[in-house]
Amino acid sequence: MIPCGKKRICAVATFILIFATALISYWKDPQLQNNIARKIFPQATTASPVGQLCRGKPAQDVITPLTDNRTFIISPYFDNRENKVTRVIGIVHHEDVKELFCWFCCQPDGKIYVSKATIDVHSDRFGFPYGAADIVCLEPENCDPTHVSIHQSPLGNIDQLPSFEIKNRKAEPFPVDFTVCISAMFGQYNNVLQFIQSMEMYKILGVQKVVIYKNNCSHLMEKVLRLYMEEGTVEIIPWPINSHLSVSSKWHYSMDGKDIGYYGQITALNDCIYRNMQRSRFVVLTDADEIILPLKHPDWKTMMSSLQEQNPGTAVFLFENHIFPETVSTPMFNISAWNTVPGVNILNHVHREPDRKEVFNPRKMIVDPRKVIQTSVHSVLHAYGNSVHVPIDVALIYHCRKPLQAKLPRESLIRDTTLWRYNSSLIMNVNRVLYQTVL
Ligand SMILES: *[C@@H]1O[C@H](CO)[C@@H](O)[C@H](O)[C@H]1NC(C)=O
Ligand SMILES: *[C@@H]1O[C@H](CO)[C@@H](O)[C@H](O)[C@H]1NC(C)=O
Ligand SMILES: *[C@@H]1O[C@H](CO)[C@@H](O)[C@H](O)[C@H]1NC(C)=O
Ligand SMILES: *[C@@H]1O[C@H](CO)[C@@H](O)[C@H](O)[C@H]1NC(C)=O
Repeated sequence: MIPCGKKRICAVATFILIFATALISYWKDPQLQNNIARKIFPQATTASPVGQLCRGKPAQDVITPLTDNRTFIISPYFDNRENKVTRVIGIVHHEDVKELFCWFCCQPDGKIYVSKATIDVHSDRFGFPYGAADIVCLEPENCDPTHVSIHQSPLGNIDQLPSFEIKNRKAEPFPVDFTVCISAMFGQYNNVLQFIQSMEMYKILGVQKVVIYKNNCSHLMEKVLRLYMEEGTVEIIPWPINSHLSVSSKWHYSMDGKDIGYYGQITALNDCIYRNMQRSRFVVLTDADEIILPLKHPDWKTMMSSLQEQNPGTAVFLFENHIFPETVSTPMFNISAWNTVPGVNILNHVHREPDRKEVFNPRKMIVDPRKVIQTSVHSVLHAYGNSVHVPIDVALIYHCRKPLQAKLPRESLIRDTTLWRYNSSLIMNVNRVLYQTVL
C-alpha cells in the first residue's frame, strides 16, 4: 500500500497507481485494446488501430489460402453500389469458417483499421462442403483503402498477413463491349480446333476479350493460348485449385464426394464478373464449346442494343442451350488441312437435338456486370435488375458436344445451319491461327 498521511493525497495517489497499472496492461495487451475498441464501435465496423502500419506481404497467387486452411482468397473488389464496402471473392468451408476480419490499410497515415466481415456463402453449393463466398467489409470512413488483408482474428501481426490490392476503386471508361468468361479449362484440355473456332466466332460476333481460368491444358493448347495472349484477346487467370482442395469434375456432391464442384467454376465466374465490371459493357458466361448464335442480327452488339431497348433495366439475358451432337456430321466444309488438328470441326455439325417434354434446356448468360451481385452458372442469384429469357428465334446457344439423346436417328434431329452464315470469315480466320501455331 502507499504510505500516506493525508486522506485526499492518499486517494489521489491510489487512483493514479490503479490508472497507471490499467494503462500499462492495456498498452501491453492488444486483446484488451481490442475489447475497448469493440466497445467504442459496437458493430466493429471499424475498430481502433492496433498501432501497426501497413506492411503486409503482397499476395502472389490468384488463390491464396489463409492459415486456417478453410478460407481461400481470390480477390477484393471495391463496391459502392449500396454502401462503401470491400467485397472479397473467396472460397470457404461453409460450416467451419465462422468469423473473418478485414484489415484495411488506410492512407495517407498508413494505419491499420480492422473491420468484421459478413460471410455470405453462395446458396448454389450443390452439396459440396466448400463454396464461393462474398466476404464483405464496410470500409472505414475517410480511408479509401488501396489494400486489405483478411484474417480469422482482429488480433495478429500485419507483417505476416498477405496483402491484396482492392480492385475497381477507380472508375474507368469501358474499353470493351464484350468479355467472355471461360470458367475452368482443365484435364489436359486439347480440343484445339473447336477452341480456335469458338474464339474466332466470338471475335466475329464482337468480342474483344476472353478471360480463361486455366487449370490445365495440353502443350498444343498452350501454344494457341500464347498466340491469343500476344494478340491481346485472351487473358489467362491461373487456376490451380486442385493444389488446395480435392476437386470434382462433376457439378453435384452426390456424384463425387470431393471438397468443391466443377473446378470451383462458380467462384471463377463471380471473380470474372467483378474483374470486368469496370472494363466491359457486357460479360458473357459460357463454356468454350458454346457459342450464342444470333438469328436476327449479324452480331452481338446489334442484338444486345435491340434486347436492351425492348427490356429496359434488365441485368441478365438468358440464352437457351441446344445440343449439336458431334456424332452427327454433314461434311460440307471438310477442310483437309484441319484433319490433323486435334478437336472437333464445328462446321460439320449442324443438326441439333429436339427439345424433350420433361427436360428443361439449361441457359447461359450475357450480363451487365455492374448490375450483378452474385452469379451461378445458369442464372444470377442476386442482381440490381431483372433476368429475361431470350426467345430462340432471336438467339440460341450452339453447343457442339457428345449427344444427350444418342439413340435418336438423324431424321429426328433439326437441321440448323445458322453457323454456316459465317463460313467464309470463320474458315479464313481459323486458318490464319492454325498456320501460326499448329500447322
Ligand atoms: C494447412 O495445410 C498445410 C499444407 O497443406 C499444413 O502444413 C498445415 O498444417 C495446415 N494447417 C492447418 C491449420 O490445418
Ligand atoms: C497438366 O497436368 C499434367 C498431369 O496431370 C501435368 O503433367 C502437366 O504439367 C499439367 N500442365 C499444366 C499446363 O498445368
Ligand atoms: C473428311 O475428309 C477426310 C479425308 O480428307 C475423311 O477421312 C473424313 O472422313 C471426312 N470427314 C467427314 C465428316 O466426312
Ligand atoms: C458460306 O458463306 C458465303 C458468303 O459468306 C455464302 O454465300 C454461302 O452460302 C455460305 N455457304 C453455305 C453452305 O452456307
